[in-house]
Amino acid sequence: KRVFLNGEWKNAEEAKISVFDRGFVFGDGLYEVIPFYNGKFFLKEDHLNRLSYGLKEINIEFEIDGINDVLLKAIREADLDGSDGAAYIQVTRGVAPRIHSYPSESKPTVLIYAFPVVLEGFEEKSVDVLVSEDYRWHRCDIKSTSLVANVAMNNEAVKNGFHENVLHRNGVITEGSHSSVFFVRNKVVYTHPNGKFILPGITRKATIDLCRANNIQIIETPLSIDQLSTVDEVFLTGTTTQILAVRSVVMNGVARFKQNQIGEITRILQQELIGKTR
Ligand code: PDD
Repeated sequence: KRVFLNGEWKNAEEAKISVFDRGFVFGDGLYEVIPFYNGKFFLKEDHLNRLSYGLKEINIEFEIDGINDVLLKAIREADLDGSDGAAYIQVTRGVAPRIHSYPSESKPTVLIYAFPVVLEGFEEKSVDVLVSEDYRWHRCDIKSTSLVANVAMNNEAVKNGFHENVLHRNGVITEGSHSSVFFVRNKVVYTHPNGKFILPGITRKATIDLCRANNIQIIETPLSIDQLSTVDEVFLTGTTTQILAVRSVVMNGVARFKQNQIGEITRILQQELIGKTR
């Protein structure tokens, strides 16, 4: 496996990061996952803009313009021309003695590689999700590598036979552990508004655009757990999730939502996404 680390392509076994890297010590870094279909990136600019936003928010000085060529090369280095997959980008604040405040001098550590992902067939699946408390920090708009809350929450879901979580903060549904959450009620689509409680998902934005282009009403407003029983469809969106139908939403062992068929609006949006990516 070939990876790009700090300006050089290397075999993964030879790519080494310092034990004093702040990404390792503090989770002081950001990441992006950008999908590609048939070897072509999908919504790459949006992903890079989100990375720029995050870098600015946490004061990591790094010029991302050079990343474009590296991303194209990443697909070739992974032998994925003409295939489906995703590129992983991680930028940390770099190496410095362990002090909490930002060091006056540190050079960002940059890691990039591409990996294969099965992106076909998502429209045939339907998954069960677990309602969990969203105990993450209050800057979920920053795509930080500090994902211990996300991984702990998702681990609980997966260990209990669920595919993903639907997270709630004080009863208000925010998003998934690694995806965005949408609801459909009476043919109207709902999702949590952007802000500090969710990641501004790129697939979320693409899905909202697809709604608008197809005259499907979309309202960016949060729904509460109590409203779960009133919705007709639930689906998840994300780079590797795409638009995935939800079959049940379970809280404390009780299904608050259950739908064995993939809903009509979900199907339309899935077909529209396939139209954009294939
Ligand atoms: N996860 N919300 C969270 C918390 C996420 O981690 C992700 C993506 C999304 C969907 O965002 P997008 O459509 O831009 O992929 C929403 C990535 C894929 C991951 O952690 O692997």
